[in-house]
Amino acid sequence: MSGGADTTSSVTVIDHPLIEHKLTLLRMATTPTGEFRRLTREISLLMGYEVLRDLPLQPVDIQTPLEPMTARQVSGKKLCFISILRAGNGILDGMIDLVPSARIGHVGVYRDPASHLPIEYYFKVPDDVAERLTIVVDPMLATGHSAVAAITRLKRAGARGVKYVCLIAAPEGVAVLREAHPDVPIFTAAIDRALDENAYIRPGLGDAGDRLFGTK
Ligand code: URA
Repeated sequence: MSGGADTTSSVTVIDHPLIEHKLTLLRMATTPTGEFRRLTREISLLMGYEVLRDLPLQPVDIQTPLEPMTARQVSGKKLCFISILRAGNGILDGMIDLVPSARIGHVGVYRDPASHLPIEYYFKVPDDVAERLTIVVDPMLATGHSAVAAITRLKRAGARGVKYVCLIAAPEGVAVLREAHPDVPIFTAAIDRALDENAYIRPGLGDAGDRLFGTK
C-alpha cells in the first residue's frame, strides 16, 4: 500500500517515521505514566488516519463565506470503536480525537494468569453494531486469544465489518487472529520478535495497562 503503509495480506504495519519515533519513546522503561499515556494517544491518532482511510462520507449542504455548496463529511454514526479493557482505552482516546461522534463499546477480557486464556467479564456495545464499521482496539496483540474472543463475541452480537488495531503485535498473535478471523484486517505499528514464556511480547514495552494507568 502506498502512503507509508506496508501491507502483507490482511496485516498492515503502519510505518510512518513519527509513529516509529513515538513508539521508541513508548518502549523505553524510563518513560513515565503521563508521557506513556500521551504518546499512546498520539500514536493512535496517527494510526487512525490510515485505519480510517475508507471511512464512509455523507453529503452535507453548507454555506461558505462566498456561496452555498454540497460538501462531504464523515458520518460518526456509521462507526464504532470497541476497546478491549482495560489497555484498549489508551488507544480509544486517540481515535475519539479523530472522530468525536463515533459510538463506543467495551469488551472486558482478562487473561487467566495460569492458562493465558481469555475470560470475558464485561460486554457493552451499541445495539446497532451490525450496521457499523467496527474498530477493535488493544495496544498489544500477544497470544491473540483476547482479540479472538472479543471479535467472536462481537460477531455473535452482529458485527460484520471489523478491523483490529494494536500498537505492537507478536507474530504468534498475528497468526492466531488471522487463523480465527481471516476477514479481519490487522493494523499495527510494529511486529516484534516473539512472545516469552509469560506471554509478554519481546522486546515489547512491558505491560501496557500497568504503564497506561500507573498500576505498577
Ligand atoms: N499485554 C501487555 O500489556 N504486554 C505484553 O507484552 C503482552 C500482553
